[in-house]
Amino acid sequence: MWAFSTLFAALTLLPTATFGAQVVFNLDIVNTQLAPDGFTRDTVVPNGTFPGPTFKVQKGDSVVIHTHNKLTSPDMRRSTSIHWQASHGFFQARTSGMDGPSFVNQCPIAPNTTFDYVFDTANQTGSGSLFLNTDSTIITLAEWYHTVAPQVQNSFFKTGAISVQDSVLINGKGRYVNGTAVPYAVITVTQGLRYRFRVFSLSCRPYMTLSFDNHTFGANVIVSLDLMLHYGARWS
Ligand SMILES: *[C@@H]1O[C@H](CO)[C@@H](O)[C@H](O)[C@H]1NC(C)=O
Ligand SMILES: *[C@@H]1O[C@H](CO)[C@@H](O)[C@H](O)[C@H]1NC(C)=O
Ligand SMILES: *[C@@H]1O[C@H](CO)[C@@H](O)[C@H](O)[C@H]1NC(C)=O
Ligand SMILES: *[C@@H]1O[C@H](CO)[C@@H](O)[C@H](O)[C@H]1NC(C)=O
Ligand SMILES: *[C@@H]1O[C@H](CO)[C@@H](O)[C@H](O)[C@H]1NC(C)=O
Repeated sequence: MWAFSTLFAALTLLPTATFGAQVVFNLDIVNTQLAPDGFTRDTVVPNGTFPGPTFKVQKGDSVVIHTHNKLTSPDMRRSTSIHWQASHGFFQARTSGMDGPSFVNQCPIAPNTTFDYVFDTANQTGSGSLFLNTDSTIITLAEWYHTVAPQVQNSFFKTGAISVQDSVLINGKGRYVNGTAVPYAVITVTQGLRYRFRVFSLSCRPYMTLSFDNHTFGANVIVSLDLMLHYGARWS
């Protein structure tokens, strides 16, 4: 997917309302220097952060996302598109043109232009009732590379070997072998309360296995303790 410079974004659907509204967002796709695992590199990110902002909408809402391509770095692709985790959990029934992958569902968005993603959430939500719905309950898992996408792609075309990520990020923080000890992401919880974690795999290639050290799930077990997420999958 990096071949097409397609960004992955997590769309959090909170099931709290029954009447649909149209919710409008703006999103800038920019080049920024980031060091989520202690290694500084130029990036292509939505609104300057990784993970990008969360889009909170309610069940039944439709969204309009004015996506502004402000990419300038000659070291990376300057045209882009956004894949809304769609084929792996978020469905775009009748709006496949909004699904994101460049050259598959749409032409990439050219630099200095805006593309409007417009789609209905069509009653899609996580699952079940909501215990807490704050940002702190979102867990994103992502693989992270130290080389920029065109380099990774060229290396693949030359050798046929798929690059291995340098680190894995949990909520945008991680460490690589012999790198600096970047503080890990922390999710503060209160003992005795039940929490709902919304887990997103913002990954391009690897499967992710997630477990919580020394913790077991309570009576409301939804899936097993060790959880394997396919790329682009979400779970809560
Ligand atoms: C992205 O940043 C722009 C400009 O600061 C802001 O107006 C917009 O609300 C942000 N988008 C999201 C989804 O948070
Ligand atoms: C985008 O706009 C900026 C500012 O006007 C300009 O410097 C740049 O050349 C434009 N990029 C492209 C690819 O047209
Ligand atoms: C969403 O659910 C409501 C209530 O059940 C129903 O009336 C509506 O048709 C559904 N919308 C879609 C797009 O499925
Ligand atoms: C990490 O550092 C150790 C000790 O210096 C070294 O043996 C090892 O090869 C290093 N690993 C990597 C991946 O650089
Ligand atoms: C998990 O429990 C074991 C045994 O009590 C302990 O040695 C280990 O440090 C704990 N791990 C964490 C991450 O707290």
